[in-house]
Amino acid sequence: MALYSDKVFDHFRNPRNVGVIENADGVGEVGNTVCGDIMKMYIKIDDGRISDVKFETFGCGSAIASSSMATEMIKGKPLDEAMQLTNKAVAEALDGLPAHKLHCSVLAEEAIQAALIDYYTRKGLELPEELKKAAERAAKDEH
Ligand code: FES
Repeated sequence: MALYSDKVFDHFRNPRNVGVIENADGVGEVGNTVCGDIMKMYIKIDDGRISDVKFETFGCGSAIASSSMATEMIKGKPLDEAMQLTNKAVAEALDGLPAHKLHCSVLAEEAIQAALIDYYTRKGLELPEELKKAAERAAKDEH
């Protein structure tokens, strides 16, 4: 069996939603200290939905494919759905990732959560429960 699915190759070779949103409503940047890969996610929000999302990923092919798939999965979605996107769902949508590459999809989940946390923080709104856990985890990682 091939190590990577056709979907992983497709999203790696033709990543969707690459780039920057200049006037983003939320920006999240996360990294993995072991492999050194970095992912940055930009979101635009209108009427409680993700109206646009773009990413920049300095990382491996699986990280690029995961970012691309994750952006497709949250585009147009209400915030409460977007914040529940898991790395497992991203990996499944890509028809799987090798075990040692699952952390690449974790970066996508965390980058989206970080962008949403940034949005709520900028607006001075209380973080929803789902994001509180992510914010606590991110704070721990920084120490
Ligand atoms: Fe670390 Fe892919 S090897 S994100």
